[in-house]
Amino acid sequence: MNSFTYVESSESDPEIPLVGGDVTEGVVRVGDTVRRPVGPNAPLVHALLGYLEEAGFPGAPRFLGIDAAGREVLTFVPGEVAGRPRPAWLADEERLASVGRLVRGYHAAVAGFVIPEGVRPSRGLSEPPGMPPAPRYPAEVVGHRDYTPDNIVFRDGKAAALIDFDLARPTTRVDEVSNAMMYWAPLCDPVDADPLLREVDVPRRCRILADAYGMSDVDRSRLVEMLTLGTRRAWFLMKQRAEEQGGGWARMWEEGIGDEIKRREAWLDRHGAAIDAALSTP
Ligand SMILES: Nc1ncnc2c1ncn2[C@@H]1O[C@H](COP(=O)(O)OP(=O)(O)O)[C@@H](O)[C@H]1O
Ligand SMILES: [Mg+2]
Repeated sequence: MNSFTYVESSESDPEIPLVGGDVTEGVVRVGDTVRRPVGPNAPLVHALLGYLEEAGFPGAPRFLGIDAAGREVLTFVPGEVAGRPRPAWLADEERLASVGRLVRGYHAAVAGFVIPEGVRPSRGLSEPPGMPPAPRYPAEVVGHRDYTPDNIVFRDGKAAALIDFDLARPTTRVDEVSNAMMYWAPLCDPVDADPLLREVDVPRRCRILADAYGMSDVDRSRLVEMLTLGTRRAWFLMKQRAEEQGGGWARMWEEGIGDEIKRREAWLDRHGAAIDAALSTP
């Protein structure tokens, strides 16, 4: 037995499927734990969750080990996850601000994390042909990079914890905040938005997130530029994941995520200036 083997408690709890994620098959709750298949980024995620635990960060599950079926074991984080259909509070501005504060809290907690030697800090995949090069700004933080409503646990009406760190890797603060905006503002063509978010004031919601996060002026001025580039890159990256990782990624591609990304790009061309203005107004 190595130190990562999870020792089951004596009573045997049933396996309750957890739905809500897009990608991972076979996520289940067992008692106070969650079991998930070990993904390609697991060495980084497990080190990261261990670091957050030591740092005393309350906003992430604990990594408890690997069970006899080879699955990762995490603590179940109690609270409310949006699910589908989306609850009306998805549009709530107080909730939105609390997401910004949680992302900031996570960045403060993860700041001293050093990726252990031998752990791959990136996807390890080649850059797909034709993809525009990555933004020239250096990574500042090991980001979560997947702030969807299904990956945030709320308690007492506030964002309390992040789950699903599968996409974590070094990135910029701008990339992190724009990822949260993408889902919560949201940054997409309204045809792709949840009906609850189709008529909201998107630039205003971007500003609420940026303020709650405490975004710097420099980062505010770079956001739209990096978003536009990131959206162009996303089309290539999603296609590559669908082809090379298959599973839920392939399903999302078949369901048209590529076209949705193209619509986001066009929408950003039309609305980027309004977002810039909302972020920079004193
Ligand atoms: N540690 C956890 N605590 C509470 N709920 C969880 C936890 N992990 C997953 N869930 C629930 O299961 C759903 C799917 O799990 P997730 O890890 O996000 O998988 P996916 O990769 O498919 O998005 C989440 O949206 C959430 O509702
Ligand atoms: Mg998820």
